[in-house]
Parts: sequence; C-alpha cells; structure tokens
Amino acid sequence: MTRTETDLVLREVIQYISDRMAFEPDSYNDSYLDRRISSRMRRTGCESYEAYLEVLSTEADERAALLDALSVNVTSFFRNPEVWEGIRDVLRTLSEEQRTVRCWSAACSDGREPYSIAMLARDDPHIRDRSIEITATDIDAETLRSAREGVYESTRTTDIESQLNVLSAPDDHIRTSEAKARFSIRPPVKRMVSFEQHDLISGAQKVGYDLVLCRNLLIYIDRSYKDPIFETLTGSLRSGGVLTIGKSETLPRTFRDEYEPYERSNHIYRRA
Ligand SMILES: C[S@@+](CC[C@H](N)C(=O)[O-])C[C@H]1O[C@@H](n2cnc3c(N)ncnc32)[C@H](O)[C@@H]1O
Repeated sequence: MTRTETDLVLREVIQYISDRMAFEPDSYNDSYLDRRISSRMRRTGCESYEAYLEVLSTEADERAALLDALSVNVTSFFRNPEVWEGIRDVLRTLSEEQRTVRCWSAACSDGREPYSIAMLARDDPHIRDRSIEITATDIDAETLRSAREGVYESTRTTDIESQLNVLSAPDDHIRTSEAKARFSIRPPVKRMVSFEQHDLISGAQKVGYDLVLCRNLLIYIDRSYKDPIFETLTGSLRSGGVLTIGKSETLPRTFRDEYEPYERSNHIYRRA
C-alpha cells in the first residue's frame, strides 16, 4: 500500500471515531491520533488500519479501549518542578499587591495541577494563600469528577510522595495512607479550587485572571485549533497577567507580540 493509501485508511478510522464514538478527533493532530490508534492496533494484533476498522466496528470493548487511549489526561503534582519555582515567584510577587489573586488552571485533568497551586500557596510563607482564588477547568466531565474527589493513588510508575517534595510540609495539605499509597487532598486545600467544565476551543470567554496555566494540551492539538485556544487564554488575562504553557509547547507566531518573557526557559510569559 502506498503512503497516500495508508493515509486514506487512517482517515477512515478517524472518521469512524468522529461519527460513532464519544470523542471529537478534529481538534487533535493526526500524528497524535495515529500514535494512539497504532498502539491499540499492536495490542489487538491488527496489521493494517483496515483490519483495525473491522475490529472497531464489531467489538464494543475495543471502542471503549480506544476511547480510553485517546483521552489524554496524564498529569502529576508539580509537573516539571523547575517550572513551579517560577510559579512560586509569580505568586509571591502577586501576593505583594494586597488584593485577590485569580488563577486559572485550564485543561486541569484530574486536579493535580490546581491542587499543586493551592498547596504551594498554603505551604510558602511568602504567598498570601487567603488572597488566592483558583478556577480549574477541563472538557472532560469524568476527569472533573475525580478532580473534585481529590483522592490519588501511587502506582508502579507514579510516585506521588516524591512529586510532593516541592512542599516543605506535605502532610499539612494532603493526607497519606499508612502504606503511602493513597493521598487525599485536605479540605482547606480543596476549598481553594472551584472546578467547572469548559472547552477551550468553543467555550465562553473568561476575564480578569492574574495567572493562567495551560500546560500539556497544546502538544496534542491540531495547528488550526491553537489560535482559538490562545484567543481564549489571552482574553482571560488582565494586562500584565502571566501565562504558563507546557515545557514542550510554544506561543503561536500570531500571539508573540501579545506577550513578553517572564521566565523564558520555563515557558512563563507576561501579557504585554
Ligand atoms: C495531558 S492533560 C494536561 C493536564 C495538566 N494541565 C498537566 O499539564 O499536567 C490534557 C487535558 O486537556 C483536556 N482537554 C482536551 N481538550 C480540551 C479542550 N478543548 N478544552 C479543555 N480541556 C481539554 C483533557 O481532557 C486533559 O485532561
């Protein structure tokens, strides 16, 4: 099969997902979709997209497994700890202004990112945690349900205890089971975060934020959807507000004039 023919059958699989499954693939780039589909093909022993399409259309279990594989909600507490030193600095500086500081964790997944902001604010004596309000949004209702619960488990590949090393007193903010396997966010931390469902591409505009985190979503998004997302993010920031994007993400060319670097190496920018 030629490359063009292969691409055509891949598009058929993507079309199938769009028509028949509870997932909207349009906003994701093809290489991301291809990686996820190919990984399911390996697991099901399919050697061609056509064979996989057949499995997909006949087996409900495989449709569920693909849906799971397509959902990108990988996250952690204090992901890229060096970036959190930059965020600490932003929060300390904002604290000096003696007013309410509004933060938005956009595409927050299961809540580890916004709870990291809240725990950092409570942990650092130079941040006025009482002045901090955190909104956390995600497109995925299921992931928001677990975010509101605020209970997390260490696994073979996720060591939550070590992720919390950024904090000087983790036990003040999160309750740990005896076996150090289960971690529950303490109520005062939970109360700092309001969760809501929001689509960054088509959702309502937000305004007046001092700090916006939108990390590790843009890498999966098709180029044509990045501008609408940046419209939303940029519009939500007050003048001088700070935006943090993921370590492997960049500002689209069309938005570069809207920002100046705050900490370039950590992808933290200030709205001009
Ligand atoms: C990889 S997680 C990133 C979580 C966190 N920001 C981090 O860096 O660890 C990406 C999240 O983006 C969410 N997402 C995908 N498309 C979205 C959209 N259009 N609007 C808002 N959230 C979206 C997914 O549900 C997922 O929870």
